[in-house]
Amino acid sequence: MTTGIDRRTALAATLTAGAMLAVQGCATAQQPAAVASSRGYQPQPLPFDPKMIPGLSERLLVSHHDNNYVGAVSRLGAIEAQVAQLDPAAPGFMYNGLKREELLAMNSMILHELYFASLGKGGGRPGASLATQIEKDFGSQQKWRDQFAAMGKALGGGSGWVLLIWSPRAGKLVNQWAADHTMTIADGRGLIALDMYEHAYHMDFGAKAAVYVDAYMGALDWANADTEFAKATAA
Ligand SMILES: [Fe+2]
Repeated sequence: MTTGIDRRTALAATLTAGAMLAVQGCATAQQPAAVASSRGYQPQPLPFDPKMIPGLSERLLVSHHDNNYVGAVSRLGAIEAQVAQLDPAAPGFMYNGLKREELLAMNSMILHELYFASLGKGGGRPGASLATQIEKDFGSQQKWRDQFAAMGKALGGGSGWVLLIWSPRAGKLVNQWAADHTMTIADGRGLIALDMYEHAYHMDFGAKAAVYVDAYMGALDWANADTEFAKATAA
């Protein structure tokens, strides 16, 4: 099984601290973001009943949440503790390594919270404001959907993320490809996340990643995206 740990790359340095804050701020709308405390970050529970998601099994969703997401949150707290104890005179590779792992774990936490917030009973549509922007930037809701699903299927056999992002700089929505947790548009605000790591589907679908993408698209929920889009474009 491919995991975030397996997929570690040297790409971590590509994401600025500002981008991290931008993404972190939009991880969830229906639930408070995971908060840091003296005891570390607290994982959030699944924002839905895992028995109620069409096309994705309870076993898959609970495993994904408990093993991959909670694992990342736990790892993040442990890494931050290590960073806090690091001697300022420690070799540069120790800072590079720990800070890279911190970025991977933090974005894994944030993107998984956005992924789970993107799932529901399916069948809904974005609210009027987000729907208008999608039609402006993609031509139609169907064209957005076709591109987003095609990008997910193109990642089958590999791993990564497909994200619907709002870019304030570009002033438009972008369907973004990401090969691992650390590659997000620098000023981006995540609205929808599709997890294409094998742990997100192998238990239910084996190697049939395209069937998983179709199931995900069937369970897509727009409530969180509407809330985040309204916040992102309010200024
Ligand atoms: Fe995942």
